[in-house]
Amino acid sequence: MLPRKRYFGIVLTILFVVRETTQHGSGAPPGACADQMPRHSGVEVQTSVPPYMILTSGAQVRQGDVLNVTIGSPAGAPVPIGGFILQAREIQDPDAIVGKFVKVPPTTHVITCSGTNDTVTHSSPEEKPAMTFQWQAPSDFLGGIEFRATVAQSYATFWKNVESPLVEVVTLDTAVSTSLPPITRGPNTQPPPIIMESKPKAAPEPIDVVYQGCADTKLCFGVPQNCIEKADCKAVVAIFVSGDIYTFEIQGTGNPKYVAAALSLDDKMGDDSAMECVRNDNGRVSLYTSWTYPKVEPYVQRSDSPQEIVQLLESSVIDGKLYCKFKRDVVSTVKGVTFDLASNKYNLMVVSGDSMKDANRVGFHSIAYEATGAPLALSTVGAAAPASKILLKLHGSFMLLAWLGTASLGILLARYFKQTWAGKQLGGKDIWFAYHRILMVGTWSLTMVGFILILAEVRGWTGGDNPHAITGIVTVILCFIQPIGAYFRPHPGTKNRSIFNWAHWFVGNAAHILGIVSIFLAVYLQKAELPSWSVYILAAFVAFHVVMHLVLSATWCVGERGSVGVSGALAMKHLAPSSAPTGGALATRPPHQFSGFKKLMLGVYAPIVLLIIVAMIYIVARAPLGESYTSILGA
Ligand SMILES: *[C@@H]1O[C@H](CO)[C@@H](O)[C@H](O)[C@H]1NC(C)=O
Ligand SMILES: *[C@@H]1O[C@H](CO)[C@@H](O)[C@H](O)[C@H]1NC(C)=O
Repeated sequence: MLPRKRYFGIVLTILFVVRETTQHGSGAPPGACADQMPRHSGVEVQTSVPPYMILTSGAQVRQGDVLNVTIGSPAGAPVPIGGFILQAREIQDPDAIVGKFVKVPPTTHVITCSGTNDTVTHSSPEEKPAMTFQWQAPSDFLGGIEFRATVAQSYATFWKNVESPLVEVVTLDTAVSTSLPPITRGPNTQPPPIIMESKPKAAPEPIDVVYQGCADTKLCFGVPQNCIEKADCKAVVAIFVSGDIYTFEIQGTGNPKYVAAALSLDDKMGDDSAMECVRNDNGRVSLYTSWTYPKVEPYVQRSDSPQEIVQLLESSVIDGKLYCKFKRDVVSTVKGVTFDLASNKYNLMVVSGDSMKDANRVGFHSIAYEATGAPLALSTVGAAAPASKILLKLHGSFMLLAWLGTASLGILLARYFKQTWAGKQLGGKDIWFAYHRILMVGTWSLTMVGFILILAEVRGWTGGDNPHAITGIVTVILCFIQPIGAYFRPHPGTKNRSIFNWAHWFVGNAAHILGIVSIFLAVYLQKAELPSWSVYILAAFVAFHVVMHLVLSATWCVGERGSVGVSGALAMKHLAPSSAPTGGALATRPPHQFSGFKKLMLGVYAPIVLLIIVAMIYIVARAPLGESYTSILGA
C-alpha cells in the first residue's frame, strides 16, 4: 500500500494531466476536424438556440475570391467567445470542408483538417469579442457552402452547428454584390433582441431567377412538360422583351456540360440558330452561337454562326444548375437566314447534355430535348406548349401490344398447343394454327404501323447512344420477312419442311426477343420520358413469360413420358386425325392428358399479360409520370 501523501500526489498529477489535455486552451484537438466536438470530458452540448451567429460579406463569392466571415453574437446581445472551431462546408456534401482561411485575428490561428488552412480555431481560451476572418473560395469548386462553427462560451458551455446563411461560390464571370455584416463588435448595454428562432436553412428554397416572371412578363419554355409551374425543369429558356431588347435566360439542371436554346422555323432539330451556355473545364461559363444541321455531320457548328449577335450578361453554376443570361440582337443573319425576333415567329427549342463532341461542338442532348409545338412571337408571355407527342406515344403503344401481347401469345400457341384442340378446326385449319396466324398477322400489322409512326415522328434516323433504334429496325425487318417465309412454306413431309420449321422458329423467336429488348431500351430513351420504375413492370412480364414457358415445357415432358409408358389404348384414343398442313415435329406426336391444365394456363397467362400491356400503355400515354433514367443518370 502506498503512503497516503504519495497517493494524493499521484491523483493530483493525473487530474492535472487530464485537465490539461481536455481543456484545449490552445485550440480544438485534431479529432474535432470532422465533428467539431470540443471533447470536453463530461460536458454536454447546449441545446438552446446559440447566442452566436456567423455572417459573411456576401451571399456569393467568385472562385478564388476572398470573403469576410464574421463570427459574433446577434446585434444587441454580446456574448463573448471562449473557444471555437470554424470551417466552410459544402451544402451538398456537409462532410466536405472547402476553401482556406487566408487572414485571421491574432487571438486565433489556422489549422489543416482536410485541406491546407481550411479550419480556424482559438489560440487561447480568454474571452474574445466578435472576430472577422478572411476566407478564400477554392478555384476548383462551384456551388453552395455554409460556414459552420462550434462556439464555447466557457469550458462547460458550448453550442454546435452555429451556421452562416448559404453562400454560393460562382464563376469568375458572375457579378457579385457584397454587404456588411450587422454584428456587435463590442460590449453594449442595449436589451437583447429576439433571437432568430429558425435557422436560415429552414427557409423555403427561393425559386430560381429564370422562372421569375414566367407567369406575367416572360415567355418560358422548359422540359419536361409542366415543369415551369413547378420551377423544376431539366432545361428551360425564358425570353424577356423590353422595347427592342431581347433578353434570354437559359438554365439546365443536373450539372450539364451545356444547356442551349435554339430558334427554329419548324419543331425539328436542324437549320436552327442555337445559343449555347457551356460550362468550361476551368469552371468558367461561356456563351456561343451555333448553327444546327438536320441529322448530318457536323450536326452543330459554331464557326457557321456569328458570335457577336449575343452578349453574355450573367452566368453561374450553382448546385449543378448551369445558367446564362444574355441579350440577342433583334435582327441577325446566320447561314444566310435572317432572324428577326420582332417581326417573325419562331419555334423554341431547349436542350442540355453532359458532354462535348469536340472542343467546339456540343455533344448529344443526353439530358433534355424539347421543341415547342407551334411558332411563337417571342414577345408572347407565359409558358409555351411543347410539340405533340401523339405519334411517339402511338408507336410505343402499338409496339407494346405487338411484342408483349400478340407475339408472345402466338409463339406460345405454336410451341405448346398444337395438340390441345386436336381434331377441332377453325376455318379449315387446326385451331392453334388459326389463332397463331391471327395473332401473328396482328403482330405484323401493329409493328409495321408502329414503324411508320416513328418514321413520321423522327423523320429519319435519330442519333444518341441508345441502341433502341438499331434493335428496333432489326425486329421490324425480321417481322417483315417472317410471313413471306410462312406463305411459301414447303408442304408437311417434304424434305425442306424441317428447314422451314427451324428457320420459322428462329426468325420468330429472334424477332420476339429483340422486340422485348427494344422495349426495355425505350425505358432508357430520353424521348420516351418513361419513369425508371417501368423497367420493373417489363421485368415482371419477362419473368412471368419465362415461368409460363417452363410450366408448359414441364407438362410437355411429363405428358411425353406418360404417353410412352401408357399402353396403346390410351395413346390411340388421343391420336385424333389431323388434316391441317401444320406438320412439324410436334404434329406427329400424340396429344396427352394435360390439355385441360394447359388451357387453364392460357386462361391465366392471357389476362395477366393484357393487364401488363394496359399498365405499360397507360404509362406511355401519360408520360412523363416520374423520374426517368436519363434524369437520374444526369443528376
Ligand atoms: C474584408 O475585410 C477587409 C479588412 O477588414 C476589408 O479591407 C475588406 O474591404 C473587406 N471586404 C469586404 C468584401 O467587405
Ligand atoms: C497557411 O497558414 C500559414 C500560417 O498562417 C501560412 O504561413 C501558410 O502560408 C498558409 N498556407 C497556405 C497554402 O495558404
